[in-house]
Amino acid sequence: MTVKNEATTDLKSAKSQKTTEDFAKYFQPPSLKDAKKRGKEDVRVHYDFGIPEEMQGIGKGKHYLIRTYGCQMNEHDSETIAGILEQMGYSSTEDEMEADVVLFNTCAIRENAEDKVFGELGHMKRIKKNNPNLILGVCGCMSQEESVVNKILKSYPQVDLIFGTHNIHRLPVLLRDAMFSKEMVIEVWSKEGDIIENMPKVREGNIKAWVNIMYGCDKFCTYCIVPYTRGKERSRRPEDVIAEVRELARQGYKEIMLLGQNVNAYGKDFEDIKYGFGDLLDEIRKIDIPRVRFTTSHPRDFDDHLIEVLAKGGNLMEQIHLPVQSGSTEVLKKMARKYTREHYLELVRKIKAAIPHAALTTDIIVGFPGETEEQFQETLSLVEEVGYDFAYTFMYSPREGTPAAEMADSVPEEVKKDRLHRLMEVQNRISKEKNLALQNQIVEVLIEGESKTNPDVLAGRTRTGKLVHLSGDKSLIGTLVNVRITEAKTWTLWGEIVAKVEV
Ligand code: 5AD
Ligand code: SF4
Repeated sequence: MTVKNEATTDLKSAKSQKTTEDFAKYFQPPSLKDAKKRGKEDVRVHYDFGIPEEMQGIGKGKHYLIRTYGCQMNEHDSETIAGILEQMGYSSTEDEMEADVVLFNTCAIRENAEDKVFGELGHMKRIKKNNPNLILGVCGCMSQEESVVNKILKSYPQVDLIFGTHNIHRLPVLLRDAMFSKEMVIEVWSKEGDIIENMPKVREGNIKAWVNIMYGCDKFCTYCIVPYTRGKERSRRPEDVIAEVRELARQGYKEIMLLGQNVNAYGKDFEDIKYGFGDLLDEIRKIDIPRVRFTTSHPRDFDDHLIEVLAKGGNLMEQIHLPVQSGSTEVLKKMARKYTREHYLELVRKIKAAIPHAALTTDIIVGFPGETEEQFQETLSLVEEVGYDFAYTFMYSPREGTPAAEMADSVPEEVKKDRLHRLMEVQNRISKEKNLALQNQIVEVLIEGESKTNPDVLAGRTRTGKLVHLSGDKSLIGTLVNVRITEAKTWTLWGEIVAKVEV
């Protein structure tokens, strides 16, 4: 096989160098402009995924390695990519020297996520030199960005293949093209694809499983790249989601995490049925699987019916991730979040009234363009008022092509850093207070495995999603136990088992 190109070009000149046929075949780069469009076409659901005959068994005796960055959606996509590769005969490896295919499943949410990937891609140049037959691919959210594809074309000729978030099902064909082409193969559809139902998956572990319920996002928050990288909102049919959850229950999984960029918008795209996220949870509640969680929620679509269903408890866990982003109504407006501080606080009040033991977590961005000290203070006061169990805090990072990246930004970097620090201090104090309140209480814990830092210690999570360390026999992994909390720290709890839970 020939090693492909010494590409030192950009999208425009690369286009002109190719014949029309080559271009159509190997060169379908992304376009942010097209990604912005929301078409009216129906999204079709396909149930006929299969590996093309000529690619069956092509990976026999060969190895793949996938590096995953970003959110749980990406982690789950990697499980699908692994499933496809294994169906082609490949087996997994952690050793890049042994790998025949290395794929970087990337995240575009903030600049530092992208920097990490470029660093790793640079490092792959040496590995590729040792093994010229290695296929190096980039997929995930970064591959949906024009600027990234340009940069790879220009400076990372060691890359053989770039494919987008809507092109995962095309992997067998793209891999074949990359193996036999001298050119870098690029296939990134800017328009979202259909829903492909029956792709194989290699799941990580046998206790917890991710289940996609919808894809894409139509919210277009002004700072966020996701609506461009993941396309328009498309919900999986309820019967497909339910069948998958039933099958996971049958296989003995103990917990499922329902995934979507905005799970509360589930079903809004159905034209033939009136069926929302609350309805879906109400059905999943009846399936015999001990624990059900979901992420991520947008406060705007969080309706009363959903709260009512969550209040029924049972296998629906009392953990709600409700990204607020800012406590200032003015900043929220500039972010196009489409709710006010008051609306958010009212939603929190309703949730707390209906589900008193719910743990609330959130995402917060500091240093949004033009954020004043007073506006930041409003975020601090909201954090105090809500009393989150945990918050993921970020410094604003401009994303090319998003409206916020064009906004005038007068906040110096140092001020942004300082705000992030102050916010984290407040939140850490609250997290610790919340954990201390659990001391001596008895909580239900699903034991998920060994502690990451000490294999002699078991680790599990409470219904509210808190990490608990405890000692016990490894045979308890995968079971539910009642635990008395003996020690509370900011991020972890320690406890002792008092009884097994009958399920
Ligand atoms: N800069 C910083 N944080 C961001 N997020 C999304 N886009 C950006 C950005 N441009 C954060 C939001 C979101 C979480 C997944 O990442 O808080 O909820
Ligand atoms: Fe990153 Fe967002 Fe893409 Fe997830 S959806 S990988 S968080 S950019």
